[in-house]
This record gives sequence, structure tokens and C-alpha cells, in this order.
Amino acid sequence: MGRVAVLGVFVADLSFRGERLPRMGETVMTEVFRLGPGGKGSNQAIAARRAGAEVTFISRLGDDAFGALARETYRREGISDAYLSTDPGSYTGAAFIFLEEESRENAIVVAPGAVSGLTPRDVEAAAKAVIAADVLATNLELPVQVARRGLELAREAGVATILNPAPAAPLPDDIYPLVDYLTPNESEAAALCGIEVANVADAERAADWFLARGVGAVIVTLGGKGAFLKSSVDGEGVHVPPYRAGRLVDTTGAGDAFNGGLAVALAERKPVAEAVRFGCAVAGLSVTRQGTAPSMPMREEVMALLEGTATA
Ligand code: RIB
Repeated sequence: MGRVAVLGVFVADLSFRGERLPRMGETVMTEVFRLGPGGKGSNQAIAARRAGAEVTFISRLGDDAFGALARETYRREGISDAYLSTDPGSYTGAAFIFLEEESRENAIVVAPGAVSGLTPRDVEAAAKAVIAADVLATNLELPVQVARRGLELAREAGVATILNPAPAAPLPDDIYPLVDYLTPNESEAAALCGIEVANVADAERAADWFLARGVGAVIVTLGGKGAFLKSSVDGEGVHVPPYRAGRLVDTTGAGDAFNGGLAVALAERKPVAEAVRFGCAVAGLSVTRQGTAPSMPMREEVMALLEGTATA
């Protein structure tokens, strides 16, 4: 079994589905509300666990009801919380998620809470978890210097690194050489490198920009169009088409599903193109279900989709 460490954020997702967002000063009504576990890092950890890895989640919570929801989630999923600290002086984060009825696209506001106080020294205190992993996955819901310290520790230990640059934030050029696999979506790629990504050719230009800065491989996720992979090793661009696993229900967390699946397959030492296909299959299943963490599929479902034996 591959071992994945995720350095990231848990928040409670408060999701509303409706026809449209209210304008400023306006109230709109909806009947559809869900409260559940979320946060990009936490979703990725759950996706990786369900897809077949041993997972440690490195983060910080408040001492409150949402923190209890997080701990109960990890207990139920079998994710190690040995490096999950508590700050009783702060609060566990929350996200407001609006899912648009017609498009099933989303808009999100995140208040990370206690995890904002995490420092590079806290990451050093979790070095054992990083070193014991085959893959470290992190993202930009954390302060950049915290994610960066995780990447450095992993690199020193020869652990493969994934940076999911979500949500997009300015990155110093010297972080890129620490990244084995960079996984922006179209808008994150554009925000980071200034190249608008509307198709596979644009994704390749964006990938070349990141490769020139020292990233090992770039995987631009393209939503309903799959993903584009280019690595510094063979230099050949590969477009991986999406996996359709049923009716589109909710795209929220699809990027997290992809990253969790990618991490599992890389931890199992699968070739990178195969790992991207695995990630696309995990994402393809997640969008057929409501919610973020709850929508992550089990390994058997992923294998059935990849092998063409799924009955969706
Ligand atoms: O990627 C989806 C996640 O982003 C949601 O679970 C929400 O919590 C935000 O962090």
C-alpha cells in the first residue's frame, strides 16, 4: 500500500444549492443545504485514503464542533491524525459554497481558522510523517511558507512532492524546483504564469512555462476536458481525456479528487501518465455525487471505471 502525507486544511463545508447568488443587500432562498467535511487538503487526504493509500493528514484545528467533525471523519476513514494539532484559542475553519443549480459550477469563500497559525516550525515537528511517506501533497490554502517547508522536507528525504496551487497565490520562482508534480487547473495556471488556458495547446504553453522554472512534471486539469500532462523527463505532452461515470451532479472538490488519486498512484510507483489517468477516474466519479469529501469514490469503483467494467 502506498503512503501519502497531506499537508493542508480542513474546513467545514456549508453548501447551498440555488438558482443564483444573491446580489449585495439581497437575500435569496433555497431548500438545498448540506454541512460536511471539506477543505482542499482534507478532501485530498480522504480521496487518497478511499483510493487505496495509507494516509497521514498534517494540519491544525480549533477546539469546537467543526474540529470534532474533522476528528470523527478521520477516525471513520482510517486516516492518521497523529500530526493534527489543536489551537484552543482559535476556531476550525469553514467554507461557504454556492452551487449553481443549472451549471453545477460553484463559488467558494474559505475562512481557514486555526490552521492559519501554522508555521514552518510546526511542519518541522511533523517531519517524521513527511519522511515516512512515498508522496507529500500540499496546496495553497496554507500560507505559502508552510507549504514550502513541507516541500523542502520531502525533497531532502527523497519523497515525491505534489503542489496543487489552489487557490492561486503568487509563488516565488525558487519554489518551483521543489515540486515534482504541479497540478494547476486552467485559471490557476493562468494566474501563475499569465497564459490564458482555454484548450490543450494553451495548457502546453503554460506547462512549458512551469517546466522552464524547474518543475518536474506539470498536469493542467481541464475540468470536463480531462487533463494535460507534460514532464521534463520525456518532454512529450499527453492529453488524458475525462472519464464519464454518470450524470454531472456537483463539480466541487473534483480537483481534490484528482490530486488524491494522483498521489495514490504515484505512491504505488505507477508511471506518471497512468497516475494521471487514475486521478481523472477518481475525479470523474466524484462529480457524479453531491458534496466534496463525501463524493470521493472507493478504490473498487475507480478500478472498475478504469477497466471499463463500471455499471453507472
Ligand atoms: O476544493 C473544494 C474545497 O475548497 C471545498 O471543500 C472548500 O472547503 C474549499 O476549501
